[in-house]
Amino acid sequence: MSFDTIIDRFGTHSVKWDMMEDIYGVPAKDGIPMWVADMDFRAPDCVQNAIAKMHEHGVYGYYGDDSSYRNAICWWMQNRHGWTVDPDDIFTTHGLVNGTALCVDTFTAPGDGVVLMTPVYHAFAKVIRANNRRVVECDLSYENGRYEMDFDTWDKQMDGSEKMLILCSPHNPGGRVWTKDELEGVAAFAKRHDLILVSDEIHHDLVFGGARHIPMATIEGISDRLIMMSATTKTFNIAGSHSGNVIIHDPDLRAKFAAKMAALGMSPNSFGLHMAEAAYSPEGAAWIDDLIAYIDGNRQVFDEGINSIPGLASMKLEATYLAWVDFAGTGMTRDEFTKRVERDAKIAINHGPTFGSGGDDFLRFNLATPRSIVEQAVDRMQAAFADLQ
Ligand SMILES: Cc1ncc(COP(=O)(O)O)c(C=O)c1O
Repeated sequence: MSFDTIIDRFGTHSVKWDMMEDIYGVPAKDGIPMWVADMDFRAPDCVQNAIAKMHEHGVYGYYGDDSSYRNAICWWMQNRHGWTVDPDDIFTTHGLVNGTALCVDTFTAPGDGVVLMTPVYHAFAKVIRANNRRVVECDLSYENGRYEMDFDTWDKQMDGSEKMLILCSPHNPGGRVWTKDELEGVAAFAKRHDLILVSDEIHHDLVFGGARHIPMATIEGISDRLIMMSATTKTFNIAGSHSGNVIIHDPDLRAKFAAKMAALGMSPNSFGLHMAEAAYSPEGAAWIDDLIAYIDGNRQVFDEGINSIPGLASMKLEATYLAWVDFAGTGMTRDEFTKRVERDAKIAINHGPTFGSGGDDFLRFNLATPRSIVEQAVDRMQAAFADLQ
């Protein structure tokens, strides 16, 4: 399959396409959905074949013996990320928002503070608040067009009521791939303030060019307070399978998490397991290499077109397909630049403030779509902001 193929997703219960008019007022007829983080590409053949095989069999009973599925996860982490995972450390949840909620519920108590490095993926804060915990926003510093950690400031913010830190690695939005030094800084910060560290690495396979993702689990001396989270769903565009992995090496933390899963009667969905096992394969790896090159191409087309509009700055992504565009230089109000994107350019995007502190001047654009659509979006943006040229 070519990533250039345009696939009609209307009327398929796609939240991204079928809800854009309801949520953003961007007309379904000629709007471009560049918001929620799924891709407009078919999953690789190996994944489609796994589902076809299930369909051919036609019996959809309970799943048993997940050893080949666990081995596939271990193989992937070793081969793609240089991380040795013990198959017994793996839990399967209904995705990573679910994984985050389970971690918050298991390892903190109502009223506790949970630290986020903002702006960051909006569902973290939603889940923390829905569990009656407090969001503690630690602002990333925004310098020379990229995000950096600011431990000195954050140290002063902590008052001892914080119990957990949720790290997004690579970071969404902005696409930073954190360096070893930065990750060691996070580990030291978590230790200094006695925080459980949850590392959401869902975007770890979508890394460009020179950058290299380092799993938090490979950082020395943190495993006794570390929860790792990963998934096949972003990488292979199978988010609808609602499946993810929480990987815990520490026996005490693992026992607590297992007890919570048991208390909630959780067991995985067989479709998600079949798809994940098929995806974590040499065929899946080859597909991802092609996908990364394609998305990197989209990123270059988008950045060139957007950065040519005076006042707009697209942050240079090291990972993810989620462009993070700063409109501060336009001098416009948030309502004005958002209106121009939604009403004039007819593009549905994620609004910056939903990502927390520091997001006000930004909009997030999903670039995982055929190149011709990215080009069309750039043309529309240039027309919508033509008066700035
Ligand atoms: C950092 C991060 N974590 C989790 C998710 C969603 O995970 P899931 O679909 O497994 O709940 C996303 C989706 O964009 C994300 O960006």
